[in-house]
Amino acid sequence: MTKRKLVAGNWKMHGTGADLGQVTAISIAAETAGCDVALCVPATLIERAVCASPGFAIGAQDMHSADQGAHTGDISAAMLKDAGARLTIVGHSERREAHGESDTDIRAKAEAALAAGLVVILCVGESLGAREGGQAVATVAAQLDASLPRAGGTELLAVAYEPIWAIGTGKVPTTDEIADMHAALRARLIAAYGEAGKLVRILYGGSVKGSNAAQIFAVPDVDGALVGGASLKAADFVPIIAAAG
Ligand code: PGA
Repeated sequence: MTKRKLVAGNWKMHGTGADLGQVTAISIAAETAGCDVALCVPATLIERAVCASPGFAIGAQDMHSADQGAHTGDISAAMLKDAGARLTIVGHSERREAHGESDTDIRAKAEAALAAGLVVILCVGESLGAREGGQAVATVAAQLDASLPRAGGTELLAVAYEPIWAIGTGKVPTTDEIADMHAALRARLIAAYGEAGKLVRILYGGSVKGSNAAQIFAVPDVDGALVGGASLKAADFVPIIAAAG
C-alpha cells in the first residue's frame, strides 16, 4: 500500500537560534513537497522554530510519560504542545542506550504522546552484534511488540527502523535487508492493530543522504525517513525531501 511519505529531521543536540534560517529554508521546501516533512529540534528551539516557520511541523526528540510532577529536567507532552510541537520521537537508540530507556518506558511515552495529540515516531533498531549474529529481525520485532502503544489509536503513530550500526556511520543496510525488516515490522503492526496496522508509516533511518534516499524510498514498505546529520542544513535535507515526493 502506497502512503504519502514522511521525511522527518532529527537535529539531536545540534542547533541554536543561529540555525533558525535553516528551519525556515526547510519549511519553504516543505510547502511544495510531495511528502510530509517535519523537523525535530532541541526543546530549547521548538517555540522559536514554530515562530520562524508558521504552518510547518516542528517536533521534539523525547518526552516524559507523566503529565507533570517532580521530574527535574523532563518535559511533558502538554509542555511540548504548549510550545507548538506537533510531534515527538520516542525510543531513539541514543536514549535507549545512554539513558537506559526500556521498551516499557517507551511504550508509556508513546501512549502519553498520543493521548496529548502528538504524532509519535517510535524508534526501534538492532545493534551490530544482533545483525551479525543473524538476530536482527527477531530483536527488532521483539522491541516493537514491547514498545508499541496499546492505547491512543494508530492515526498519529509512525515507526522508525534505525539500525544502530547505521546511525551516523555512513553505513546503510542493503535494500534487501531494509525490505525484510520493514516487511517483518508491517506484519507485527498488523498483528497488533489489524487493518489499521497497514496504514502506520514505517520510516527508515540511519545515514540517509541525498545520494541514497531515492533508492531507499523505492523499497517496499518504506514510508519515509528519519534523518539525523543530513537534516541540519537545508542544502543537504531538501534533496532527501525531493526524493520522497
Ligand atoms: P543519521 O541519524 O541520519 O545521522 O545517521 C539518524 C538518526 O539517528 O535518527
